[in-house]
Amino acid sequence: MSLHNRVAVVAGLRTPFARAGTAFADLTALDLARACVRELIERTEVDPAWVGTLVMGQVIPSVKAPNLGRETALGVGLPPGVPAHTVNRACASANEAIVQVAGAIGLGHADVGIAGGAESLSDVPILHSRRMARALVAASRAKSLGAKLHAFAGLRLRDLAPDTPALAEPSTGLSMGQSAEKMAKENGITREAQDEIAFRSHRRAAVATDDGRLPAEMCAVHVPPRYETTVSADNLLRRDTTIAALAALPPVFDRKYGTVTAGNASPLTDGAAAVLLMSEEKARAEGYEPLAYIRSWAVAAVDPGGQLLMGPALAIPRALERAGLELADIDLIEMHEAFAAQVASNIQALESDTWAREKLGRESKVGTVDRDRLNVGGGSIALGHPFGATGARVTTTLANELKRRNAHFGLLSVCAQGGMGFAMVLER
Ligand SMILES: CC(C)(COP(=O)(O)OP(=O)(O)OC[C@H]1O[C@@H](n2cnc3c(N)ncnc32)[C@H](O)[C@@H]1OP(=O)(O)O)[C@@H](O)C(=O)NCCC(=O)NCCS
Repeated sequence: MSLHNRVAVVAGLRTPFARAGTAFADLTALDLARACVRELIERTEVDPAWVGTLVMGQVIPSVKAPNLGRETALGVGLPPGVPAHTVNRACASANEAIVQVAGAIGLGHADVGIAGGAESLSDVPILHSRRMARALVAASRAKSLGAKLHAFAGLRLRDLAPDTPALAEPSTGLSMGQSAEKMAKENGITREAQDEIAFRSHRRAAVATDDGRLPAEMCAVHVPPRYETTVSADNLLRRDTTIAALAALPPVFDRKYGTVTAGNASPLTDGAAAVLLMSEEKARAEGYEPLAYIRSWAVAAVDPGGQLLMGPALAIPRALERAGLELADIDLIEMHEAFAAQVASNIQALESDTWAREKLGRESKVGTVDRDRLNVGGGSIALGHPFGATGARVTTTLANELKRRNAHFGLLSVCAQGGMGFAMVLER
């Protein structure tokens, strides 16, 4: 089946992004997703009856509302007959949501769809140990107080310790940060190069905030239950960051020999983001001027036991090939910054003839990444990275910036847990 409808990115919106445990500490990912999608619908004045599907991404789901997509659709007043679901492609989850909706529109199964994602790292499920969980279940079934108490007999102190989700690869046990550290070492990415990327991220995000580009992509969130507090700006951006301040930070994941710090890693973040997609025909019929169109996409994966976050360097050439384009044709690039070491490693691979020969089976490098066209409004290091939402943030920013510059082609990439990488080409 080939796609027969061109898919337009009509609009995108996100909540402000907040350091986990701060402005959105009392909200769930669902609260954030609802706030974002509700306002996306209001701002675009899209008729909810047009919406054929909604897909949301989330990486650490709530055990109480695991189908974020469906609950969001119901919570924002879409007709109950609109199917909606949730996807998890780790940090590229919102990208996966976008391509699922784009696929439905492309095939003619829907004219209009909403795709995005949300994450609350303030609201991660905290588990009991298996022994404690078994005791609780047994106690709930016990008929007498004595039997209830007996259910807890034999528990050791360590069985009472909470079990929190780890940001680690289940297959290797390495955390994301340790994986970034490994990439920095194996690829010879210096501390200076990483801090330079982080510094640029903050500087550019500050400019894009002050000139209104980023605030225009954000909705305000009124914080329940009293709705007296309104969050209308990101709180992670550090305007006072200097190269010297970054250089003074201690490494976190390898305290002795490491180079990855709190300054050159993306921080733990709460937030939501979503885009409105339409078939070109529907957009035209209803008088919408699309920001951009989806030209191609690709997903790739590497062995997590190797260099975990190199997926983009495989997905990018694949998406470019599917678009019939070269890197040199691209006017703007949005590369998700999980870690500066990951950004630098992927750029190094794209610019390497050896990588091209060994990994892509092509004669020469994919191309040169023009740093002046890369993450022009900052990236995840400065803005934050709510895992499930980031893909929709980068898609929105890229589409808006393409329109603002009246540029032709934009490329985005996102690295993800499990060794995956996502890339998409937008066009105007
Ligand atoms: C790296 C990480 C552990 C740091 O967490 P943290 O210690 O809570 O980070 P903080 O923001 O408190 O920063 C630590 C210190 O560095 C300082 N700092 C951080 N960024 C800075 C910057 N840009 N400039 C100057 N100082 C900075 C902070 O002020 C703080 O200083 P303090 O200890 O004197 O208060 C955490 O952000 C993390 O785990 N990130 C990776 C997330 C991840 O794996 N994502 C998956 C991607 S695929």
